[in-house]
Amino acid sequence: MQLEIIAHRGYSSIAPENTLAAFLAAIEHQADSIEFDVQLSADGVPIIIHDSTLTRTTGIRGKVRKKTLDQIKHREAGSWFDWRFKGEPIPTLEEALMALQNIKKFLYIEVKTHSYWTDQKIDEFIKILVKYQFKNRCVIASFNGSFIDRVRKQSDDFSLAYLVANRAAFRRQLTKAAQVGNTVMMSKYKLFIKHPDLIKSSREQGVDLVAWTVDKPKDLERLLELGIVRIATNCLIPEMLELKMQ
Ligand code: G3P
Ligand code: CA
Repeated sequence: MQLEIIAHRGYSSIAPENTLAAFLAAIEHQADSIEFDVQLSADGVPIIIHDSTLTRTTGIRGKVRKKTLDQIKHREAGSWFDWRFKGEPIPTLEEALMALQNIKKFLYIEVKTHSYWTDQKIDEFIKILVKYQFKNRCVIASFNGSFIDRVRKQSDDFSLAYLVANRAAFRRQLTKAAQVGNTVMMSKYKLFIKHPDLIKSSREQGVDLVAWTVDKPKDLERLLELGIVRIATNCLIPEMLELKMQ
């Protein structure tokens, strides 16, 4: 299988994470796929931002889930990274999908655990993905396994992913992923390097793996030796692109 390079939060080492600028940079630098983070505003709009608060990327305090879209849109998420990106907005999910719909990239949409999703909100989320033709072009991922299970219940049209950060959670969710099908496991690359048995049992159970966040060529080489070819990175380093060409 060919190496798949996933731009983590977009090409987030050269542009502010989770913004259209980072997504466009990822496309320009030939990432195969783009990963980003989604959570709900106070008025229930899915927006793209990683942290539970606005502090780090916009400089104002307060939880994202307590701010309305209007309040969030009054902030910018570029100048914390570099003044050249001053004014870069926090995109809504819909704005990002609209911008990316004609670009043949695959998306990893991580739904953060910071907000509660009603069945109606999950339904709207699915409809937005369908509207912009991402049904066969995305993986919906979350650390919240029950969110993933609820998405699966509402639609069997999507590839899904359980995100896990430790061995016990990996084993638990792997069993489930194998049973339900069309679900991959995503984890920290260090977990795979430390516990290659997890790779073996995933392979035996027919479950594919994605590793994040791989920014050093030596780690990438080790993962490739272990048979992991789906890699999320902040850096899109030239060595990675070279390896892809081989
Ligand atoms: O792709 C999974 C990875 O993005 C999870 O970690 O904190 O960067 O969202 P985080
Ligand atoms: Ca993420």
